[in-house]
Amino acid sequence: KILILDFGSQVTQLIARRVREAHVYCELHAYDMPIDEIRAFGPKAIILSGGPNSVYESDYQADPALFELNVPVLGICYGMQWMAQALGGRVESGSVREFGYAEVFTVADSLFGGIFDKTSPTGEHLLEVWMSHGDKVTRLPEGFIVIGNNPACPVAAMADEKRHFYGMQFHPEVTHTKKGRELLHRFVLEIAGCKPSWTMPNYIDEAVAKIREQVGDEEVILGLSGGVDSSVAAALIHRAIGDQLTCVFVDHGLLRLNEGEMVMDMFANNLGVKVIRVNAEADFMGKLVGVTDPEAKRKIIGAEFVEVFQTESGKLTNAKWLAQGTIYPDVIESAGAKTKKAHTIKSHHNVGGLPETLNLKLLEPLRELFKDEVRELGVALGLPHGMVYRHPFPGPGLGVRILGEVKKDYADLLRRADAIFIEELRNTKDENGISWYDKTSQAFAVFLPVKSVGVMGDGRTYEYVVALRAVVTSDFMTAHWAELPYSLLGRASNRIINEVRGINRVVYDVSGKPPATIEWE
Ligand code: XMP
Repeated sequence: KILILDFGSQVTQLIARRVREAHVYCELHAYDMPIDEIRAFGPKAIILSGGPNSVYESDYQADPALFELNVPVLGICYGMQWMAQALGGRVESGSVREFGYAEVFTVADSLFGGIFDKTSPTGEHLLEVWMSHGDKVTRLPEGFIVIGNNPACPVAAMADEKRHFYGMQFHPEVTHTKKGRELLHRFVLEIAGCKPSWTMPNYIDEAVAKIREQVGDEEVILGLSGGVDSSVAAALIHRAIGDQLTCVFVDHGLLRLNEGEMVMDMFANNLGVKVIRVNAEADFMGKLVGVTDPEAKRKIIGAEFVEVFQTESGKLTNAKWLAQGTIYPDVIESAGAKTKKAHTIKSHHNVGGLPETLNLKLLEPLRELFKDEVRELGVALGLPHGMVYRHPFPGPGLGVRILGEVKKDYADLLRRADAIFIEELRNTKDENGISWYDKTSQAFAVFLPVKSVGVMGDGRTYEYVVALRAVVTSDFMTAHWAELPYSLLGRASNRIINEVRGINRVVYDVSGKPPATIEWE
C-alpha cells in the first residue's frame, strides 16, 4: 500500500484516485502525520502532494524522518520542493509563475522509464505536462540529478536513484498531464513494486469477511435513504450477514416521485433485505408548518429524522450495530479538510448521520472507498446501474427545493415536474448515445411559490412557477449551469405545463456557483 501525505493541494484526492486505478490500495493523510503512525501504516512508498504555500516560509512541514524508512518517495510540486529543502537543497521564489500547459525535456529516464509524448527536432524526449508553481528548486540536495527540465524550470524533475527519491514539479495526477496516469502507475507498480491486488471482487470478499468477523451473530440496523451510499452499504452488509441486517427507511414525504416504492421494490422484493418503511410524511409536514427559513427547515427535518429513526430502531431491541454509508472523502484527514472546515455556507445535515445516544456500535463498511468505487461496488453487488449512477439528492430532499414554507400540495406538484424534467434528460442523447442526465452532475426542479398569469385554451390561468436547474461540476464546490439544448428545455417545459395542473410557467436557472449555490436554499 501507498501513503499519500497531503500538503493542501486542491487536487490531492486525484493522486489517490490514480493510485487506486492501478489497483493499489492507498490512503491519504495530512502532511504532519506522526512518524510512528507512518511506520505503523507500513507504506511501500510515499507520495508527497502539492500545496499552495512556499516551503521556505510555511508551517506545512512533514517529518523528515520519513526519508529514513527505506521506501521510495515521490514528491509532486510542493512535495518535491519540500523534499529538496528537507534534504539540504534550496528552493526560491521564481521571477515568473508557470501555470498551465508546459513541455518538459526528460534528460534521464530513471523515473520516466521511456514514457514521453513527443520527440523534439533534435531528438530529445518531451513530456506534455500541467504546471502550477511560482517557487522552484534552485539547488539540488546531495545525491540528486536533474531528470527533467525546460527553460522556465531548470529542475522540472529530479531523482536520487540510489535512495529511490523522485520529484516532479508538474502534476501527474491531473488529466492535462497526458502521460500522468502512466507515470504514477509506473511509480507504484514498478518502482515501489506494489501488486495490483486492489480489485472489486477481492474487495467484496475481504469486506464480507471483515463484516462477518466484526458483527459475529449480532444484529445491525441501517438507515436506508435511497441514496447511493446507504444503498450500497445495505447491499454489501446484506451480502455478508443476510437477515441479521434490518434497514429502516424513513419516508419524510419530501422524496422524488415514486422513490419510496422504488426503494422498497429494489431492497425488499429483489434483494430480499428486511426493510421497515416508516411513513412519516404527516409528522414532517406538521413540524414544517409556517417555517420559511432554509436553515430552520434543514434543522427541523434533520432533528425529526433522528427522532423517527430512533423510535423505530428502539423497537429493534436485539440490534447492537448501527451501519452507515460513510465514504472515504468524508473521513479523509487531510490538510485541505483542516482549513476548509472554517467556512460552512450551509449546514448539510447528512440525514444518515445519527447521534451517539442510540448506544450502538458503528459499522461503516465503505469508509475506505471513493464515490466511484462505491458505485462500482454497487453494480458488482447487483444494484441497478440507474440507481447507482443517480445524481446526488440532498438529505432534506424537496424541503430545500420548495422555497419558503413547505406544503404537501407543493411537494406533489414539484415531484411530478421534477420527474418529467429528469425523464427528458435521460431520454435525450447525443450522437455518442450519452444522455444529458449522464452529462450533467445534478439536475432538478425547484418550486417557486409565486403565481403568474398564463393563458390556456380560452381561459386565463393564474398558477405557480417551476424553475429547472442543471449543473456540471466535478466537486460540487463550484459549478457551471448546463448548456442544455433548447429543444430539450422546450419539451420539458411543454410537458410540465401540460401535464402538471397548477404550473403554468417554467424557467431555466442560468446562474453559476459561485455566486449562486446549486440548491436554491
Ligand atoms: P449547494 O446548494 O451548497 O449544494 O451548492 C452542494 C451540494 O450539496 C447538496 N446539498 C445538501 N446535501 N443536505 C445534504 O445532504 C443538505 O442540506 C444539502 N444542501 C445542499 C446539493 O444537493 C449539492 O449536491
